[in-house]
Amino acid sequence: MNITYYGHSCFGVEINGRNLLFDPFIRENNLAKNIDITSVKADYILISHGHSDHIADAEEIAKLTGAKLICNWEIYDWLQKKGLENIHPMNIGGKVKLDFGNVKCVVAQHSSSLPDGSYGGNPMGYVIESSEGNFYYAGDTALTNDMKLIGDYRQIDFAFLPIGDNFTMGVENAIIACDFIACSNIIGMHYDTFGNIKIDKQDAVSKFNRAGKKLTLMEIGEIVEKKK
Ligand code: NI
Ligand code: MN
Repeated sequence: MNITYYGHSCFGVEINGRNLLFDPFIRENNLAKNIDITSVKADYILISHGHSDHIADAEEIAKLTGAKLICNWEIYDWLQKKGLENIHPMNIGGKVKLDFGNVKCVVAQHSSSLPDGSYGGNPMGYVIESSEGNFYYAGDTALTNDMKLIGDYRQIDFAFLPIGDNFTMGVENAIIACDFIACSNIIGMHYDTFGNIKIDKQDAVSKFNRAGKKLTLMEIGEIVEKKK
């Protein structure tokens, strides 16, 4: 499994020869100005919620790659009205088997509206299960008791958690989230992009270390290989 960081909460994950892309927000992200979106690979684009810092480049990359979009019902409806057709609608609690593994939608405690003000339904996180490993992509969320259900019947090998505070949980709550999801191997997201989510990265990593957990903060454009 290879993970590529495109900045903010946008990651590419290659599993079993398929490219998953989470929450594309690249062209409007100053920190990601070296990423050329025409080079971003995607067979599936998974969208956690409708806020523009998670969906801004979804339409463009879907058109460039022909990727299938995965999102909740309300975002499906909105994307369809924009003329996109290759979309798989889901909702919280639901799971689907795809050609690389399973995608399950889980609760995220946040809000969701689309860039034009349309209703965005409820925000979601995703649990991906595959023969190359399982992981949790939290989307934008607070620490929530529902996270205890994430590791309910499967081992989570690693998780993408927001750590920027202000709009989502911050470092302290993300450390507690590790215990809730029974996973101590975290890739941080949703930090540094805007003024009010700037963090002290060194301090964040040491706080995780002191709690006996591991926080990885990837460089934008960096690729990391995850072995099972
Ligand atoms: Ni949001
Ligand atoms: Mn956000």
